[in-house]
Formats: sequence, C-alpha cells, structure tokens
Amino acid sequence: MAIRKFSEKKLTDEVLYRIRKTKNKRLKQVMTSYIKHLHAFVRDVKPTQEEWMQGIQFLTETGHWSTGKRQEFILMSDTLGVSMLVDALNYKAGAGATESTVLGPFHREQAPEYPLGANISKHLSDGEPCLVSGSVRDAKGKPIAGAKLDIWQGGADGLYDSQKGEAMNLRGVFRSDERGRFQFRCVKPEFYPVPNDGPVGRMLVATERHPMRPPHLHFWITAEGYRPLITHLFVKGGKYLDSDAVFGVKPELIIDFKKGKDGFATANYDFVLMKDKK
Ligand code: BEZ
Ligand code: FE
Repeated sequence: MAIRKFSEKKLTDEVLYRIRKTKNKRLKQVMTSYIKHLHAFVRDVKPTQEEWMQGIQFLTETGHWSTGKRQEFILMSDTLGVSMLVDALNYKAGAGATESTVLGPFHREQAPEYPLGANISKHLSDGEPCLVSGSVRDAKGKPIAGAKLDIWQGGADGLYDSQKGEAMNLRGVFRSDERGRFQFRCVKPEFYPVPNDGPVGRMLVATERHPMRPPHLHFWITAEGYRPLITHLFVKGGKYLDSDAVFGVKPELIIDFKKGKDGFATANYDFVLMKDKK
C-alpha cells in the first residue's frame, strides 16, 4: 500500500480518523474535542521544540508534586478558572437557591460530628472567636431538618490542619434542627495563599498574579431529596474579594461578620437547597 505524503494540514483529520472506531461514545466525543483543541492550540502558539519541552517539563513536575496530600493538578485547574467553569456548567442555582463554589483541596472525610453550638476551634491561637448561625431551607422557604453541614476553615496562620499534618481541627459536621436551624462556633476567617511553592506557584509569579484567597468558610451541605451544595461564605470587606486566586467569589455569598457585644464576630446565613432531580 502506498504511503501517503505527510501533510501538516491533514494531520489533525488523520489523527481523528485513527480513533473512529472508539466504541464508547462519550470517550470518542471527549477525545475528538481534545485532539482538535490541542492541535489548534499548537497551530496558534507555534512552539519551538524547546518551548514544547518546557511545557512537557512543567506538566511532569506538576505530576511529581501531586501526592495523596497535595494535588497540584487540581490547583492548576483552580487557578486557571477551570474548576469554577466545571462547577458553573454542573450546578445552576435555581431562583433563590444558594450559589455553589469550588470544593478546594482541604476538605477531609470523617470530620468530627458536633452538637449544634459547639466550637470547631480547639486552640486559642486558631484566631478570633466567631459565631455562625442560620438555617437550611428549600426554595419555598420550608425548613430542612437533619441536613448535614460539613464545615471547614483555615486558621489565623493561613493554614488548614492537614497542611500542618495535624489532627482534625477547625472542621466539623453539624445537623440542622427540626426548624432547619444550625449554629456553631469557629474563628473569623482570614485571607491566605493557596499552596504556591510548586509549579503552579511559579506559573502565578510568571503571569504576575498573587496566590491569595479572600477570607471564607467552607460548607458542604447534604440532605435527603436535595442536591448537595458545596459552597463558601465570604467575609464582607475582606481582602482579595475582587481577585481571588481561584475565581471562587460570587457576590451572593459575601456576608457580614459583625462584632457582637460579647466580642464575638457573628454571621448569619440561610442556605437554600434545590430539590434533587432524581
Ligand atoms: C480553599 O479554599 O481551601 C482552596 C481552594 C482552591 C485552591 C486552594 C485552596
Ligand atoms: Fe479555603
């Protein structure tokens, strides 16, 4: 059989032809789009051989930095806005429902379960005491009893317990009461940098970006018959709200953390869950 003359123009179509027998329809769709976009990217950028190697080296390092404790590829997805894009395509908050945002890398399975009102902070040095309360409701305002609220945050030093190799701290699981209410004590969230000592940190520096996230508390709320909600509450007036390193801020999630008479910062928020489609 005659071997066809190589053609740069026809190369993309040839690669696509080579995967034509892929049985898994979704995989075929994903691979087709990936090949098309990757070739278009290379045609657009026209990398030199050295630049292409540099790109491969960067991805190789990103892999080497990824371990059970550190996920550099997720961090890359976060800092390039891809995590928020995937979230936006998958979670469309209906009228009145609470908006979602990124999960981030610091959630831990099996955080301790606490009674309502408990303090998730174990050390005085964790930060300024804070009281957060509110409710979990459906779109019609009906309270959702027994909703599970999985909550986590960093300390005043800008670090999560897992980053310090510590036992569970500044995280906990609560259940809403019969009127859908919840309440817990924590510390007032502070801004902090995303892990930036690896390849993603170098990318941020090279593109003149800072690694900071505005002050926030993480929530993962689940309840039978409702869509799970992964979100944050951001501190009104906090630094970096307009330039979050992972593009996670939505104005609807920014709330007041006011100083009460007893010296506690207090915040209140009513979460609205969407009904599960199933
Ligand atoms: C976080 O908020 O915990 C976070 C989110 C994305 C990347 C790094 C940290
Ligand atoms: Fe966080």
